Amino acid sequence: MKKNPKNRVVIFDTTLRDGEQCPGASMGLREKLEVARQLARLKVDIIEAGFPIASPGDFEAVRAVAEEVRGPIIAGLARCLEKDIVRAAESVEPAGERGRIHVFLATSAIHRQYKLRKAKEEIVKQAAAGVRMAKHYVDDVQFSPEDASRTEPEFLAEVCRAAIAEGATTINIPDTVGYAVPDEFGALIGYLQEHVEGIDDVTVHVHCHNDLGLAVANSLAAVKNGARGIECTINGLGERAGNCSLEEVVMAMRTRRDFYALSTGIKTREIFRASRLVSQLTGMVVQRNKAIVGANAFAHESGIHQDGMLKERTTYEIMQPEDVGISGTELVLGKHSGHHAFSNHLHKLGFRLNPEELSKAYDSFIALADKKKTIYDDDLVALIQQQMTEAPPIYTLQYLHVSTGSETVPTATVRLQRNEEVFQDAACGDGPVDAALKTIDRICSMRGRLLDFTLQAITKGQDAMGEVSVRVDFGDHVVNGKASSTDIVEAAAKAYLNCINRHLADQGMTPSPQKTRTRKKKAPAKK
Ligand code: KIV
Ligand code: ZN
Repeated sequence: MKKNPKNRVVIFDTTLRDGEQCPGASMGLREKLEVARQLARLKVDIIEAGFPIASPGDFEAVRAVAEEVRGPIIAGLARCLEKDIVRAAESVEPAGERGRIHVFLATSAIHRQYKLRKAKEEIVKQAAAGVRMAKHYVDDVQFSPEDASRTEPEFLAEVCRAAIAEGATTINIPDTVGYAVPDEFGALIGYLQEHVEGIDDVTVHVHCHNDLGLAVANSLAAVKNGARGIECTINGLGERAGNCSLEEVVMAMRTRRDFYALSTGIKTREIFRASRLVSQLTGMVVQRNKAIVGANAFAHESGIHQDGMLKERTTYEIMQPEDVGISGTELVLGKHSGHHAFSNHLHKLGFRLNPEELSKAYDSFIALADKKKTIYDDDLVALIQQQMTEAPPIYTLQYLHVSTGSETVPTATVRLQRNEEVFQDAACGDGPVDAALKTIDRICSMRGRLLDFTLQAITKGQDAMGEVSVRVDFGDHVVNGKASSTDIVEAAAKAYLNCINRHLADQGMTPSPQKTRTRKKKAPAKK
């Protein structure tokens, strides 16, 4: 194994590109910008903001991130094709020197034979031509031999050599289908270090998928063997079973510095906030037992563990929740706290809101403090993130009343406001949530089909805020929405209304709502 003298591992975040390829996790421009800003606060080195040729929306998103986000390098993905490269170059152009073009081409026998129908020589030529073309536009060019882990090592070395000869500055080795296992993948990286001329002059990245649950383990094996860049996503979002999870791989290297002797530039205290934001914006719920950012990641349930923790924290805790930005700290503010104290506290938590946003957040905080005895920083973070990510309020919820019980037909009365008009209706359903959602549909003249509904508590205690995530199909358009409240039916109604508002905003139109009615109408079951 050749020793790499540099002990700094570059973190390349692809949440906005590969992460966004996760079924059901697509984001609009506003959401992508929000995530990119948080990635910059997290201090990732590179943001892969999208695949510009894929759609006009992707192109706009990469360009907007390149224009607005300062700090990290901004990369756009392209196949080794002129039209892709030209589009990628245009999209990263506003980032100036921080613009990167990431070209890729499949190299494995399976891809060569069935997908590309190309011989080895043609692949080498096309890879070299792709890098050369990208170099016309930017200095910083990354090359990825797709399905590298299933490529013959000698041929992989040949393609990498050709890319480096044309000026590639980063060589990324993807385990595209998550087939590799750690020892083998580490050895492949070691082999390339030994057999690719010029490899010492470039940064070697790895890009691992999680089909066998090994993405983090493979990435760690790679850095142990000389790779110095890890491509990853927040919450491990990505195609199929996802990509290497940023939070896990970064915290593994940090916690086991004794073993890896490597560091990253990541501001780990921003991890939890990034995780929540991505979950909020994509509607992809983080499983409770997910390492680092799951609700149970730092929860100690058994008596023996709790006893040990009380005696000495390190008996059962290898990281501290604060290290990743999970505070759980009680907020010393209450409903009598003034605007100034509230704004100071938000500042300490890292939020920078303009006066209008601040006053809206303060109103929500006071409303929450009225309902909830103890407010934790996590409640506050959820509240602010919800406000930051809310769809344009075409309809707002003014009033919700549900009656339900074992002997009662669940019925909801809802009042919504749009501009100056107020609309009210009532409907019955299978349960209180179903009744509330049906009533909203009636008022908005919509018929959304609920694809996913998840509820989870943000903090502890009986008065904890419940966070509802929904995924709604409006026929031609699937939208994700989230909302939290101490009342779970209200959270569900708000999350659903968020989806309706987003759908209407994306359509650029508003339906003509029905006139105010108070008549109850029995509607068919929703699910
Ligand atoms: O998984 C993969 O091979 C990719 C490449 C485009 C890097 O995402
Ligand atoms: Zn990938």
